[in-house]
Amino acid sequence: MLDGNPRLNLASFVTTWMEPECDKLIMAALNKNYVDMDEYPITTELQNRCVNMIAHLFNAPIGEEETAVGVGTVGSSEAIMLAGLAFKRKWQNKRKAEGMPYDKPNIVTGANVQVCWEKFARYFEVELKEVKLKEGYYVMDPEKAVEMVDENTICVAAILGSTLTGEFEDVKKLNELLTEKNKETGWDVPIHVDAASGGFIAPFLYKDLVWDFRLPLVKSINVSGHKYGLVYAGVGWVVWRSKEDLPDELVFHINYLGADQPTFTLNFSKGSSQIIAQYYQFIRLGFEGYKNIIENCMENAKVLRQGLEQTGKFNIVSKEVGVPLVAFALKDRTYYTVFDISENLRRFGWIVPAYTMPADAQHIAVLRVVVREDFSRSLAERLASDIHKVVEELDEQVKHVTKVVTTQVDITARGGGTDGALVHKSEQEIAEEVITYWKKLVNRKKTSGVC
Ligand SMILES: Cc1ncc(COP(=O)(O)O)c(C=O)c1O
Repeated sequence: MLDGNPRLNLASFVTTWMEPECDKLIMAALNKNYVDMDEYPITTELQNRCVNMIAHLFNAPIGEEETAVGVGTVGSSEAIMLAGLAFKRKWQNKRKAEGMPYDKPNIVTGANVQVCWEKFARYFEVELKEVKLKEGYYVMDPEKAVEMVDENTICVAAILGSTLTGEFEDVKKLNELLTEKNKETGWDVPIHVDAASGGFIAPFLYKDLVWDFRLPLVKSINVSGHKYGLVYAGVGWVVWRSKEDLPDELVFHINYLGADQPTFTLNFSKGSSQIIAQYYQFIRLGFEGYKNIIENCMENAKVLRQGLEQTGKFNIVSKEVGVPLVAFALKDRTYYTVFDISENLRRFGWIVPAYTMPADAQHIAVLRVVVREDFSRSLAERLASDIHKVVEELDEQVKHVTKVVTTQVDITARGGGTDGALVHKSEQEIAEEVITYWKKLVNRKKTSGVC
């Protein structure tokens, strides 16, 4: 009750609405432990079917009779840990066989990666080499990424749908450049695509965008079932191009639950509901259903973007091609920031995060609205109008402060000052005083009123 309202939580990519039939299905499966595969063989079968469907969606080169290689996880973070471990182990095995040192593995990413990549690097002792961003370019530059690759690089990770702006990185170009570099050097550096959000966007909206297993160096892809896979929090997926890309020694075989069961996950026990719900969504919606929902999200993102553009106050940082979200920065940051806007929007119930970009674009701060299935057109219009209201209020406050400071200066100038001397202040000086006064006011507001 005291938490925020999930539907108004525009900070999250994670699904906050499913149809009532699905809620019932989830409740009915709540008491099944997914890992009891021999006891709940149908759930295992549903997982395998989901893996196959996703692998086909991502154009994995699998024959009619073959099954895809992949696994259901708790989310993209676990999926990325598994994919990263597979790369690390493959690289180590190769280096050992060549009699080369294998104690300094690294991974190349953009500085815009989600925190799970930093976790992977730290937990599994892999150096993270990040390509820095710059103002106006908030994704990994494939040329710079390939320049950073060396003989210790276990993989380059590209993001299909950057967490910060929703933009797709250019995986095709990365594949081209890396193929050249591999040819020149004799290395064998592969690509992983973090398609946490974009994996359930691109196949439905941008069929001709080549980012997946159609590119030979792409060896594994993760996607979050709980984002645009349209399932509540707790499901992700990782699929490998082929069996050869998942070292066998990482797969454990247990038999004490009844039969030989291969497992390659970080967890053991977990709920079955999300896997069952994912299968339900795939069957219920099909390709057309997902396409319609994602198209609708894009439409609503457009409505919001246009509403924000009409205020004349913002630069839209997100791109039209990408994840349905709107990231936007203030054109004029003199008197208030996106953090003030975010704070003020809370009054209307909206949860809209504000954050600064990573290195080297830290000076850019943005607000981000993720458009999910349950964010309707009328909510988009209402949000745009509330943002407009907040900005107008802030502008009014600035005007008021300007008036107060100007009056004070005026009084001083007319002899009301302490020594009665005539004071002349330039516009610049007045503006600086307004800013100082304003900042004091805002800071006072920020520190008071809590508990
Ligand atoms: C690009 C990207 N990768 C990975 C993750 C982590 O995903 P999950 O929450 O499914 O673990 C996110 C989450 O927002 C993301 O945006």
